[in-house]
Amino acid sequence: MSVTPQEDFAARLDASVRDGSFARLTLGKPRGGDATLQKVIVRPVALKAGPHLSFVFRHDTRDITKNLPPAEAVREITRLVGTQFHSAHLDTTVQGVQLEFNKKGEPRLHLGRSAAPFPDTAHDRAKPRLLTTDAQPWLHALGVTNAAGAIREGLADKHRQIHKFTEILSHLVADAPLPADRPVEITDMGCGKGYLTFATHDYFDLVLKCSARICGVEARPELVTLCNKIAHDTARPKLSFVGGTIQNAELPDPDVLIALHACDTATDDALARGVKAGSALIVVAPCCQKELRPQLQAAPVLAPALRHGIWQERHAEFVTDALRALLLEWAGYDTKVFEFISTEHTAKNLMIAATKRPGLARDDATAAKVRELAAFYGITQQALARQLGFSF
Ligand SMILES: C[S@@+](CC[C@H](N)C(=O)[O-])C[C@H]1O[C@@H](n2cnc3c(N)ncnc32)[C@H](O)[C@@H]1O
Repeated sequence: MSVTPQEDFAARLDASVRDGSFARLTLGKPRGGDATLQKVIVRPVALKAGPHLSFVFRHDTRDITKNLPPAEAVREITRLVGTQFHSAHLDTTVQGVQLEFNKKGEPRLHLGRSAAPFPDTAHDRAKPRLLTTDAQPWLHALGVTNAAGAIREGLADKHRQIHKFTEILSHLVADAPLPADRPVEITDMGCGKGYLTFATHDYFDLVLKCSARICGVEARPELVTLCNKIAHDTARPKLSFVGGTIQNAELPDPDVLIALHACDTATDDALARGVKAGSALIVVAPCCQKELRPQLQAAPVLAPALRHGIWQERHAEFVTDALRALLLEWAGYDTKVFEFISTEHTAKNLMIAATKRPGLARDDATAAKVRELAAFYGITQQALARQLGFSF
């Protein structure tokens, strides 16, 4: 089914608002309704409540301003175009898009150069977008967005996760002791389809403009082939994907090691690799913490609660990740443990971020805490401890 110029315009508008490339929009050629209304000017504003679009309704003798949240704003613009206004001019950071209706009311779409290269969010200084519109080709190739740049059905959570991850990474990178005298080596272990590897690449290469090489490691060869093809097709020579396991893939020692949702002890394998390499920053989002379940001996007072399977599971997650964080501290890292994205979107939302302390000294005081915690739960074996040579 062919897309009408009006639908095409609406899709481009929606995509620009979602990916942050929206710069401004002007509605002109008023038709009917309020005879004093001349035009409407829309621009992005950063309010305390989050990003909004600010509408200025320009009348003969006064302006009326209204701020709307992004989705509502898009609906309002779409409602006004073709009914109350017969001209709509959208400037994104990359393109000008003009929708004009002729005297018969037939719409035509023109694409051209943007007259407003950067969004101006006026009273609140704009946060730089962490992923630019240059991300669009790989987001499309990976199936997150369609050809017009709109998020595909069912992929909104993935899209949000990609942006949220990039935002978190930006904060963590700012605090990490990364090398300044050579390219930063970045590895994404168990990278799957590479969404976050591409995002990491774009953040370092296009936003930070930092010299970096990014490598995704993945056990499934078909994903490696797919990701390498997309990296090639989207002209990202500093980004590559290798087949192999987290334990054994041949790689340069990473300065930044990422391993999100690597199941069970694969997270420990990644952490151990990062610690042994002396990575400046290690970021993991553990999942499927099974290893400790058979060993866990909770205090008798907890037995009534732990009759419930879900609490046994949560308990094992807590003990596993608490031991991991403490082991990282023992190994010379400062750790942060926090929610990655809201549980509304996924249950696998805990992130452990470890930043290397200067000197990377082993910390005996923390060793005692690790042993006490392990003893409390009857733990005698744990994959990260084993690989780091830590005995309980
Ligand atoms: C749940 S996916 C997560 C993908 C990606 N990190 C993300 O969070 O979007 C886990 C991926 O890790 C890969 N994987 C699991 N264990 C691995 C290992 N030991 N070595 C390499 N890849 C592994 C799987 O094939 C899978 O593609």
